[in-house]
Amino acid sequence: MNYRYFKAGGSEVSLLGFGAMRLPTIGGGHDKIDEAEAVRMIRYAIDHGVNYVDTAYVYHGMQSEAVVGKALADGYRDKTMLATKMPFWIMKGPGDMGKILDEQLEKLATDCIDMYLIHDIHGERWDTVKAWKIWDFLSKAREEGKIRFIGFSFHGESPEEFKTILDEYPWDFCQLQINYMDKDLQAGVAGYEYAVSKGVPVVVMEPLKGGKLSDVMPPSIQAYWDTLESDRSPAEWALRWAANLPGVLTILSGMSAMGQVEENIRVLSDADAGMLTENELEVIDKAAESYRKLIAFPCTACKYCMPCTVSIAIPVVMDFRNSYNLYGKTDKMQSEFNMFVNPKPSDCVACGKCEEECPQHLEIVRAMRETAGFFEA
Ligand SMILES: NC(=O)c1ccc[n+]([C@@H]2O[C@H](COP(=O)([O-])OP(=O)(O)OC[C@H]3O[C@@H](n4cnc5c(N)ncnc54)[C@H](OP(=O)(O)O)[C@@H]3O)[C@@H](O)[C@H]2O)c1
Repeated sequence: MNYRYFKAGGSEVSLLGFGAMRLPTIGGGHDKIDEAEAVRMIRYAIDHGVNYVDTAYVYHGMQSEAVVGKALADGYRDKTMLATKMPFWIMKGPGDMGKILDEQLEKLATDCIDMYLIHDIHGERWDTVKAWKIWDFLSKAREEGKIRFIGFSFHGESPEEFKTILDEYPWDFCQLQINYMDKDLQAGVAGYEYAVSKGVPVVVMEPLKGGKLSDVMPPSIQAYWDTLESDRSPAEWALRWAANLPGVLTILSGMSAMGQVEENIRVLSDADAGMLTENELEVIDKAAESYRKLIAFPCTACKYCMPCTVSIAIPVVMDFRNSYNLYGKTDKMQSEFNMFVNPKPSDCVACGKCEEECPQHLEIVRAMRETAGFFEA
């Protein structure tokens, strides 16, 4: 495993971090984590050099932290930088911050969280962070020994918005969605560069765009990869692209199967900053440009939009909508839609609740309408 130095902590952090937002599940749902397998995967990763695990209060219907807590029992906690996040946007008021932090410590079976993030700041949420004086609360929690380092995750609209937040407080680190497709999305590479210029380490989330960059690529995009003399998988190229950025502290991947853990450990034990050639970077840029043109709604299936008011499986519908553009409609696609999508996108009541929660700021209501047009006509 390759490591990067975390100056504030005076310690080495593994280049692969374990994101506990997409743990293996049972029965097709999101909330029933396959606990035994998740624990096995997290411990396997730690046994093979991973020392950073990222979870959050809200992941997997609020089950993720407890499973991470179990994985880190039996001595694994001592080998790990543990990150979790404060979901201030589900709280009734600032009075809930202490209650939730104590609950998190209990679920994680620890008395101190190493990396504590204000979760998912964007838009008006930034006003809440300031109005509630969340920093004062966090500084006190640090003095009390409940947390060690303070950061935030960002899904705002622009590098400018990100810079405003970064400049406001002496953050120990920040967490950004960066991958070769999203160079100009949210904070983007411009935001990353600004953080690096200020000495703030960047934790990467969604390096595979939630798995979209590991999917079988449409032939027009695969053709770019085929020009490179290598048998690297699309997932490997995406991880290598993120590892190529020197200011990245760790790359979180939300691995859902042991094979992915093994592959990602292998890749990030080899990949490092400056290792991609000019030609490889150029090909990746061209592939990204083509891919971007084909993707109608760049959903990462993070499920922040769920639950839907009328129980539509929004990420599944988004996937059908995008597949329609990427691969063209096939009989198999139509029969899978008929079989698995229920309620249908035409059941959408356009309440817009999902759009308020979507960190990618997607027009989900329009996507529902279009998908209904393509698959229900
Ligand atoms: N703070 C925030 O606001 C926020 C938001 C998003 C994420 N995060 C954190 O960042 C972490 C990383 O984001 P992410 O989970 O979206 O990461 P990601 O690496 O972009 O996507 C993970 C998905 O990619 C696929 N995958 C991973 N490795 C693979 C491999 N070797 N081969 C093929 N497919 C592979 C899997 O998809 P399948 O399951 O479909 O196989 C997996 O579920 C999260 O787990 C979470 O801890 C934080």
